[in-house]
Amino acid sequence: MHIVAIDQGTTSTRAIVFDKRGAIVATGQREHEQIFPEAGWVEHDPAEIWAHTRDVVDEALETAGVAASDVAAIGITNQRETAIVWDRATGEPVYNAIVWQDTRTQPLIDELAADGGIRRFADVTGLPLATYFSASKIAWILDNVDGARERAERGELLFGTPDTWVLWNLTGGPDGGVHATDVTNASRTLLMDLRTLDWDEDLLAAFRVPRSMLPDIRSSSEEYGAAKGTALDGTPIAAILGDQQAATFGQVAFDRGESKNTYGTGNFLIVNTGEEIVESENGLITTVAYRLGDDAPHYALEGSIAVTGSLVQWLRDNLGLFDEAPEIEKLALSVKDNGGVYIVPAFSGLFAPYWRPDARGAILGLTRFANKGHIARAALEAVAFQTREVLDAVAADTGVTLEELRVDGGMVANDTLMQCQADVLGVPVIRPAIIETTALGAAYAAGLAVGVWADLDTLRSMWKEDARWAPSTDEVERARLLARWRKAVTRTFDWVD
Ligand code: G3P
Repeated sequence: MHIVAIDQGTTSTRAIVFDKRGAIVATGQREHEQIFPEAGWVEHDPAEIWAHTRDVVDEALETAGVAASDVAAIGITNQRETAIVWDRATGEPVYNAIVWQDTRTQPLIDELAADGGIRRFADVTGLPLATYFSASKIAWILDNVDGARERAERGELLFGTPDTWVLWNLTGGPDGGVHATDVTNASRTLLMDLRTLDWDEDLLAAFRVPRSMLPDIRSSSEEYGAAKGTALDGTPIAAILGDQQAATFGQVAFDRGESKNTYGTGNFLIVNTGEEIVESENGLITTVAYRLGDDAPHYALEGSIAVTGSLVQWLRDNLGLFDEAPEIEKLALSVKDNGGVYIVPAFSGLFAPYWRPDARGAILGLTRFANKGHIARAALEAVAFQTREVLDAVAADTGVTLEELRVDGGMVANDTLMQCQADVLGVPVIRPAIIETTALGAAYAAGLAVGVWADLDTLRSMWKEDARWAPSTDEVERARLLARWRKAVTRTFDWVD
């Protein structure tokens, strides 16, 4: 028996076939186009994403040599917050997907924050007012696409984050497609009440979003419907989790106090707070970690960092510093230290723990001595320093200092980054045997729903360590570097009026 996880991410869509032991049997992957129509705007083509989803499922099944009849369930995981609006009768998107990194809606955010500040809705949603979340993106589409608001008010349009877009299409699209999301994705829209786990009328009114376009909010692990008309025809879809929550599940961080840090396009640290909703006073956000069927939901604190892996891509694509992302490691090792260079990658402003939309990226500390090795080194350190700052925020919010950090995601293959991370944090960094924990988490949640795995303890027993890095710097040096980093961060503030 197998499980197929579909991971609809920011840069690519993947399908991974897992076996009953949680091992990867085969993977299909396609990158999609990143569309940048203006500075600060980031879009994806929803039709391309759906076409790639079908392709990668076919490819993974074919490579695995697995028939649909041998797949017990499908789990969906996805880039969160990204907003797609489409016609319920035709399945045609009315506009491109507006991606989570997109900052075009800052004027609406400022307008709403003028009355009550950026924490105006934090008590209900756990989130600050920011362009990051879906609500202002939906409003932008309704206000800027000809006729969209009228069509939405007539009930003709649907909204979804990428999980919902994939689920609706996978279950038949205009022909009876299931229009649903899960609590983890809904908790990122700025429209859901964390306590009732339902859409909140006051928030819908504030963002002028008609309720009729919103999906049903379901748990993260249950049967939503069966696939219709693809290679997986008839297979139940039995899990939906936002990608960071899925990675938390794949790292088996099921209990209060357990955590993980994922290194993807951005970095996302999640600390499970159990059934308690912990309000952050230090720039973290409160979010749903997962909900299994009718069980009580688990909540989490999250440190969301917008730019980490995408900084490496930027050095590759925009500066041409190397041809392939992994080459950054060799370049960083060509120098003995950062040579005094710091990069603050505030491309979308700064997310946690600062939430400064007015910040923009900067390279500081340049001298005639600095070379591309120092820039590469500074880029890796920027990833590590940003993580350190969200970990400090966790300690300040919870009073608990993490004794180790479990990591996953593509960038953790970079041993130099991992050593640097341990040095900057002063605690060991631990990498599991399977670093594709996002897809694994979606597979686990789907397998639980259909009985492939009996319970959380069974999953827990499947987690295995691959490698660990111990800190190699002393406290004095660590503090010196961190102070410099903080100074660099403040230099990026107040750049956008
Ligand atoms: O909140 C954004 C996050 O879900 C994106 O994750 O892995 O696609 O960069 P990733």
